[in-house]
Amino acid sequence: MCGIVGCILKDKEAAPVLLECVGKLEYRGYDSVGIATSASEIRIQKDQGKIDAFTENLDMKELPGKLGIAHVRWATHGLPTKINAHPHTDCQKRIAVVHNGIIENFKELRTELINSGHKFSSDTDTEIIPHLIEKYMDEGLDLEEAVRSAVRDIRGSYALAIMCRDEPGKIIGVRKESPLIVGKGEDEYFLASDVPAVLNHTNQVIYLDNREMVILDGEEIIIKDLDGKILTKEVHTIEWTPDMAEKQGYEHFMIKEIHEQPDAVKNTLREEEDIRNMVRDFPEFKKICFVACGTSYHASLVGKYLFETLVGLPTDIILASEFEYSGGALDKDTLVILITQSGETADTLKALRIANEKAETLAIVNVLGSTATRDAKHVIYTRAGPEIGVAATKTYVSQLTAIYLLAILMGGKEELLETLQKIPDFMEEALKTEEEIKVIAKKYKDTYDFFFIGRGFSYPTALEGALKLKEITYIHGEGYAAGELKHGPLALIDDDVPVVAVTPPGHSHNKTLSNLEEVKARGARVIALGSKEDHVLKSEAEDFIGFPSEINEMFSPLPYVIPMQLLAYYISIYRNIDPDKPKNLAKCVTVE
Ligand code: AGP
Ligand code: GLU
Repeated sequence: MCGIVGCILKDKEAAPVLLECVGKLEYRGYDSVGIATSASEIRIQKDQGKIDAFTENLDMKELPGKLGIAHVRWATHGLPTKINAHPHTDCQKRIAVVHNGIIENFKELRTELINSGHKFSSDTDTEIIPHLIEKYMDEGLDLEEAVRSAVRDIRGSYALAIMCRDEPGKIIGVRKESPLIVGKGEDEYFLASDVPAVLNHTNQVIYLDNREMVILDGEEIIIKDLDGKILTKEVHTIEWTPDMAEKQGYEHFMIKEIHEQPDAVKNTLREEEDIRNMVRDFPEFKKICFVACGTSYHASLVGKYLFETLVGLPTDIILASEFEYSGGALDKDTLVILITQSGETADTLKALRIANEKAETLAIVNVLGSTATRDAKHVIYTRAGPEIGVAATKTYVSQLTAIYLLAILMGGKEELLETLQKIPDFMEEALKTEEEIKVIAKKYKDTYDFFFIGRGFSYPTALEGALKLKEITYIHGEGYAAGELKHGPLALIDDDVPVVAVTPPGHSHNKTLSNLEEVKARGARVIALGSKEDHVLKSEAEDFIGFPSEINEMFSPLPYVIPMQLLAYYISIYRNIDPDKPKNLAKCVTVE
């Protein structure tokens, strides 16, 4: 998830404006920054790191011109280095491109282009785009036609801003699955990934849809489809403040990130081919061992059930902070899977160092170029985009997705891929429970204790529900295996303790239902999550959150966690807590 900007100004230099605009998109990525401007030629300045450091070292005179494009990067392909920073160019440096998205077929296209003489200078997927445009311009097409032909060749997601020395005064934007808006100022024109980038200059915005292209030439805004047909689009007046706009109108990053989850899962699903290739080269493992902390540990627990069910291998899970005391039985036949969104958690990195000496290691990581990605022998990138809220949400579901892909492919259970592909739609359905959850959150906002119970695949969901609640509401939440309650904690249950029961259809359903009876008999008020068609469960619960009945137990962790996150989020709001920055916690825990 990068941020892209473009602008054509009337009587101001573009570079300072581009820097200011792209600065508003730093929440979309901060691995590197780059700008291209155009006067008599295209000039580019770029570097790794954040905008402040980049600006400090920048001589604006190096970037003359009233037109330009800019980028903040959240690396997906190629390390976060200067060479991989955008804009990227063609062989002759006459075309400059900034990109947000992922080109799935970049490897094939790159090979074809290299074979026909193109020279590449980065490891990114993006760089194939200027070379493709160059190829088509060399065949005689103008910039607009060449861009159209290039995007026809690529598979994946993109929002692009493109400029070309041969057609000065023009910026072309085009999008598919990654956002792109056009800003219309007083004789000034903008392109951006998101509204906050342009709000200091205009509140008049056009939202481009998939497969639409915009041509800015400093005189007018021309929008076309990919067949070249001119389209008429509505101009919206934005009423948001810049702060609201950065969060796309949401009050906090956490709720924005909760809503981004279906897309995060789709991005992780794009890793199928790379995971398949990795699995093909794996030796025959005899044991799996997951290592992680916090929410990533809960993803590991889902992994344990999945690997035991689908791959049939004994699977251990160890908290990273306990690994040095308990990881003794590892050997070269063990695959140690470390899960860490940041790739920088000190406990997990230490475990990785220990594991590397004895076993094969695989890290499942969101932040490209982080220490875990460099130290582990194998890596899966979850590609959920930057997560700003301290509470992990979209990175959790993308970790789960990576684990499902891995277990399905290692277990040779390809028939399950079809179900996995449907999960983002089920997650969209789960997001529709938001209004019901608000009512429940209001009702329980002053509670002191909560229990979350589930069995099998729902046990990790219960643990994650409790962790989210603790983290951002400061209410005590206890996640428990439903069958284990009777061995002690049942003594804590009374009418002051609400119990959230995760009860999807499947193997564990009836037993969890019995446990629900046990807590009800002690006065607990039950909030149940289950199939919409589960009338028995519905009649047993004081509050009921229904899901499509097709979601079975095995895939339930993905959609069922959403109401849990929403419950924690809204309780925190009703208690006047900032869920993005809970007290005593940090996004990345770099101490042991
Ligand atoms: C999750 O909401 C927490 N902020 C925390 O438990 C987190 O999952 C844990 O610190 C692990 O982080 P990592 O995935 O970056 O290693
Ligand atoms: N795939 C591009 C890169 O790695 C863009 C990244 C993104 O938009 O997430 O540079």
